[in-house]
Amino acid sequence: MARKAFTFLILICCATVCPVYLLENGMALTPIMGWLHWERFTCNIDCYNDPDNCVSEKLFMQIADIMVTDGWKDAGYEYVCIDDCWLAFTRDKEGRLQADPDRFPGGIKKLADYVHSKGLKLGIYQDVGNRTCAGYPGSYGHYDIDAQTFAEWEVDLLKFDGCNFINLDILVEGYKNMSKALIKTGRNITFSCEWPLYLWPFHTPNYTDIREHCNQWRNSGDVFDSWQSVTGIIDWTVNHQHVIVPFAGPGAWNDPDMLVIGNFGLSPDQQVSQMIIWAMMAAPLLMSNDLRYIDPKAKALLQNKNIIAINQDPLGKQGYRIASVNNFDVWERPLSGDRYAFAVTNRYDLGGPRHFPLFMATIPGWRRCFPTCLIVTIFPNFVELGEHSFLSQYKFTINPTGTVLFIVSIPPKTKLLNNLNKPAGLKLNRTWKNLNTIQRKENYF
Ligand code: GLA
Repeated sequence: MARKAFTFLILICCATVCPVYLLENGMALTPIMGWLHWERFTCNIDCYNDPDNCVSEKLFMQIADIMVTDGWKDAGYEYVCIDDCWLAFTRDKEGRLQADPDRFPGGIKKLADYVHSKGLKLGIYQDVGNRTCAGYPGSYGHYDIDAQTFAEWEVDLLKFDGCNFINLDILVEGYKNMSKALIKTGRNITFSCEWPLYLWPFHTPNYTDIREHCNQWRNSGDVFDSWQSVTGIIDWTVNHQHVIVPFAGPGAWNDPDMLVIGNFGLSPDQQVSQMIIWAMMAAPLLMSNDLRYIDPKAKALLQNKNIIAINQDPLGKQGYRIASVNNFDVWERPLSGDRYAFAVTNRYDLGGPRHFPLFMATIPGWRRCFPTCLIVTIFPNFVELGEHSFLSQYKFTINPTGTVLFIVSIPPKTKLLNNLNKPAGLKLNRTWKNLNTIQRKENYF
């Protein structure tokens, strides 16, 4: 029954918005939310000297506990994900993968049971090639048996890396074969790929294929705990948005990598910017931080219901940067219910807070607001600003590297008027310097 309903949903979706086929496993209908160990704990296998921070079952069990007790699960964070360095250096006698026996003495099945007992899901990591990026046994030549093993362990997500591949054709075939092998197990396992990341240096990846085989996919390099790294990923995404945005939708997401909020490298404003822009990009929200010791401000930001609601919007359209003016980046994301989220980042990191004058007439989607729209600011504060006429103005103050977020909704009467009489003559978007970007956007999305 659930399968039928899902197929119906997919058919409706494909008839309206989906450009291509989709991996039909019913997973990730909104971007997944959870925790992934890599950025914060990397390949720390030294449990002798650093027992509290090494990659071990103890760490994942503690994180699962805290996800329940500290409100993360209630906020929507569901997956507890293991990254590289969980494996033993050899397969067992039957050729099956095995976890490092010292660091995971109970084995992965027992850890999955524990995570499930908390109402959460367990993610695991493998690689399409001969070895993982950190040098552990890869899945090449073992796709079926590895998929079967993960299903028997009752794993819920597989992050499939692309290091040490033999050649590009084998890499692509490997991702497709693992996707099919996972489906064959009969268990619903979210499939998180890095396929396009490894192809971009050679050619534009075939996103039709990728979307058909993966629930989410990494396009750009690994996130590090710094503003330079976060803005590098944001800028990569903007530069390729005309290629990648149309492929995102329920069950299939572009993955700009982990949230590093709550660590060491981002200022409070930069943490806000990562959270908001990840919500605008309909990105998986996988935190990589230490939930056992997290600053209350970072915690409140990561659990901000209104930002999460934008990330999880059921329409599932990825947002895009619509303009870059005077060192302000302006993002737009279409939301369900005739609403649009807008975010403005102050990309100028010299001096103090700057004013961003918001004239209704210069909102990129202004045509949809004629004669009025409802505006609600979501961040820094949730404030209902009420109905604003096409000619209203409002001033935001944005800290250097910070971001503000607001939602514009189109009241029914405006929608009606829009439909009756499209104000084609009122071309006020001249105020935006890069008109090209706006026109490109209107063509593509
Ligand atoms: C690659 C991936 C990272 C992480 C490491 C682990 O670099 O892109 O996200 O999984 O491998 O070795």
